Amino acid sequence: MAIQEEHFKKVISHAKEYGFIFPSSEIYDGLSAVYDYAQNGVELKNNIRNYWWKSMVQMHDNIVGIDAAILMHPTTWKASGHVDAFNDPLIDNKDSKKRYRADVLIEDYVAKIEDKIDKEIAKAEKRFGDAFNLNEFITTNQRVVEYNQKKEAILSRMAKSLEKEDLADVKSLIEELEIVCPVSGSKNWTEVKQFNLMFGTKIGASADSAMDLYLRPETAQGIFVNFLNVQKSGRMKIPFGIAQTGKAFRNEIVARQFIFRMREFEQMEMQFFVRPGEQKKWYEQWKETRLEWHLSLGLGIENYRFHDHEKLAHYADAATDIEFKFPFGFKELEGIHSRTDFDLSSHEKFSGRKLQYFDPELNESYVPYVVETSIGLDRMFLAMFSSALQDETLADGSVRTVLKLPSVLAPIKAAVLPLVKKDGLPEIAKEILEDLKWDFNVDYDEKDAIGRRYRRQDAIGTPFCITIDHDTLQDNTVTIRFRDSMEQKRAPIDSLRELINEEVSIRKWLQKMQS
Ligand code: GAP
Repeated sequence: MAIQEEHFKKVISHAKEYGFIFPSSEIYDGLSAVYDYAQNGVELKNNIRNYWWKSMVQMHDNIVGIDAAILMHPTTWKASGHVDAFNDPLIDNKDSKKRYRADVLIEDYVAKIEDKIDKEIAKAEKRFGDAFNLNEFITTNQRVVEYNQKKEAILSRMAKSLEKEDLADVKSLIEELEIVCPVSGSKNWTEVKQFNLMFGTKIGASADSAMDLYLRPETAQGIFVNFLNVQKSGRMKIPFGIAQTGKAFRNEIVARQFIFRMREFEQMEMQFFVRPGEQKKWYEQWKETRLEWHLSLGLGIENYRFHDHEKLAHYADAATDIEFKFPFGFKELEGIHSRTDFDLSSHEKFSGRKLQYFDPELNESYVPYVVETSIGLDRMFLAMFSSALQDETLADGSVRTVLKLPSVLAPIKAAVLPLVKKDGLPEIAKEILEDLKWDFNVDYDEKDAIGRRYRRQDAIGTPFCITIDHDTLQDNTVTIRFRDSMEQKRAPIDSLRELINEEVSIRKWLQKMQS
């Protein structure tokens, strides 16, 4: 098994074993692509949300937050284009009866070409050593040039066919590439059809008066329909933003890769309203700001890249993804979209209400343009969790499993551990716990040998272990052990709060964005 695949399996089993993520309704064998966050998972998820909210809402004078309902008037989705255009192209294999996203089958084929390119690069790097020049190699090596040309040709043909809704050509492409069903191995495909991803539901009790509704497929529309309410009640001046976090629902066909693609998930979105004509400037600015936010968590630029969209959504005049290096390769983590005035104009048309802003500087009214940043909270969780999980071989040859989460996101900031369960040590430990509780999420553990307790905390990513021993009785100091270095030092009890805060405060981490 490839190392990456093995790591991903470990991520999924670790998440369950250590109380981060469980399959939904597991006693009934689960529900595909739906997951529950467990006791540690919910803390990590809340910390990621808070880190985003602090940075996007509270640190910006011109951005405010809302919390709109999941259920919205059904015309919302007509106006937004989701009823007509929120589709995935589907194809069935007649032998296995399995259903696939046609574009994903093609993308998987392209990923195999990319693997071949990577292998050629790795071979050449080994051969040429320090003299290896990547740029020169990929532009001159015959085989790599051909692979790249093939890849580009496939992607651009697929993008054009999807753009023109030429589904017959998408099928032809699958046939020409001789793509086989991963389950049956056959090329016996149906036609490609469009499938709407929204979940339908009903409001009201009686069959006659019940109204068909949708569970929102994105949180953004709750912001658009409230644009004027917020602008007027908050006396907001353009440019300004409205942000929210909340659940979104999509009946995903290719539901795989754990919490990467879920049917019920959470988004953190911000719509930034700007003057028409200024959207490109803000689009570039938000690209930069959002990348800086990611980098502030310390994972290194090599884990991120931008991927500009070839096929633009129905509402966008520019769009890019911030991709993250997940265990299964670089994939979309966040989208940044210049949405033009599509949404507000369309809601004006469908609602018959004016959704315009009077610009006192220009002395004119207009429908603002919008630049949106949209990140999946669950994907961000997976990005942090999968890259933090490591097996470390120690000097004595033993292996420790450690979750090296950025400490600002760690579910538990400190564990308070009496060395033994007697001699008054638990009492002092509990006093320390009661005090630290006011400022941090802390844990108490007195079971098993201290080494095993340290490992348990390593596995859930706790940055500090505080051990109370017999010296504590004499001098009011404790041993503080650091998760990543395993270094231990003595510290006075009354210095603990400051010491922990120094490491885990949002201020310290977010200030990296300004440096
Ligand atoms: N309002 C724009 C919008 O919804 P999107 O690219 O469809 O744009 C934004 O979604 C983000 O939401 C994605 O970058 C991803 O992080 C997250 N996301 C989308 N579909 C998801 C799914 N099925 N499961 C988990 N996260 C998802």
